[in-house]
Amino acid sequence: MYNPFDNLDINKESPIILGIESSCDETAAAVIRGREVLSDEIASSATIQALYGGVVPEIASRAHTDEIAKVVERAVQNAGITYQDIDAIAVTYGAGLLGALLVGVSFAKSLAYALNKPLIAVNHIRGHLAASYLTDKTLKPPFVTLLCSGGHTAILYAKNQTEFEILGATLDDAVGEAFDKVARVLGLKYPGGPNIENCAKEGVANVTLPKMFKGGGGYNFSYSGLKTAVINYCHTKEQKGEAYSKADVACSFQKAAIDVLVEKTMEAVKEKRVDTVTVGGGVGANTYLRESLKSACEKKRIKLVLPEKRFCTDNASMIAAEGLIQFQNGNFADMSLNAKASIPLTTTLNVPKKGGV
Ligand code: KG4
Ligand code: ZN
Repeated sequence: MYNPFDNLDINKESPIILGIESSCDETAAAVIRGREVLSDEIASSATIQALYGGVVPEIASRAHTDEIAKVVERAVQNAGITYQDIDAIAVTYGAGLLGALLVGVSFAKSLAYALNKPLIAVNHIRGHLAASYLTDKTLKPPFVTLLCSGGHTAILYAKNQTEFEILGATLDDAVGEAFDKVARVLGLKYPGGPNIENCAKEGVANVTLPKMFKGGGGYNFSYSGLKTAVINYCHTKEQKGEAYSKADVACSFQKAAIDVLVEKTMEAVKEKRVDTVTVGGGVGANTYLRESLKSACEKKRIKLVLPEKRFCTDNASMIAAEGLIQFQNGNFADMSLNAKASIPLTTTLNVPKKGGV
């Protein structure tokens, strides 16, 4: 019978958590011991997806199905542990592509059942927010977090490890989505973000683009106007038969998209009177964002916790990191866990279990 809760010690020092992530095009597994990453494995279908110009859900699901067992096995092997050493299995249950999520959730449930280990449901976004705890092992809330991924853009106030106040969010497109769409307009390959960043290195920010809520709109963002302005600029030039520099457009777009994130994050720091800023999500891998935030924080003597680039984009260590928080709070999922394509930004499904009080 499945009952991993009777002898569970949630106060155990440095529990070992296996994290599994399959919400989009990366099949990932990682093992952490406390906040220390023991292994971090990833198999990406991005190269195949690039042929189609974006993520094709069925291709992602098939790639996960091919890779999941191998990736998990590698994560356990490379961590130098046995399956029995694992204290809990944490898996992304949402948000994401349903078929893709189901591969990870079904695998994690089967493994938890077979090993009689506790199962933890992880909200992908909470995983992005938890990545900073791996970078700075002494990090403690309260702090302000800039969340900037392919699906979300928001500024949050982390009251403690499990409670967040959403100070503002995008009213339309996410910043990563805008990078991907602008990349397509410029004829750059998927994934758009890193390709815009590379292209921008050769350019200067000399194209006039809308200011995007700068100095207004509270902590909210809007990226659809900026995206449309870039599209209009390129189309007008093409219709007139005038040449334009893709690098200058990429550089101008990158600056417009990122300056507003940095500016509003620093306003939130001031309002909330915190001394620490963290970053989560794929756009956090952008060098211009990293440098801008670093210099803004240095100026105000604010501590900046910037996860390594590989922990900004999708990975399983961040899922394990959020799993650790849930573990230490005694919150677990059961075998009825299902994948969910969309869930509220910071919600969690886990409930307190025996040993969890
Ligand atoms: O967090 P993430 O890996 O997946 C989601 O949960 O959405 O974010 C993916 C997004 C994509 O839109 C991608 O283009 C963007 O992050 N991204 C970047 C960079 N690396 C990834 N955007 C700008 N610069 C980058 N270097
Ligand atoms: Zn993500």
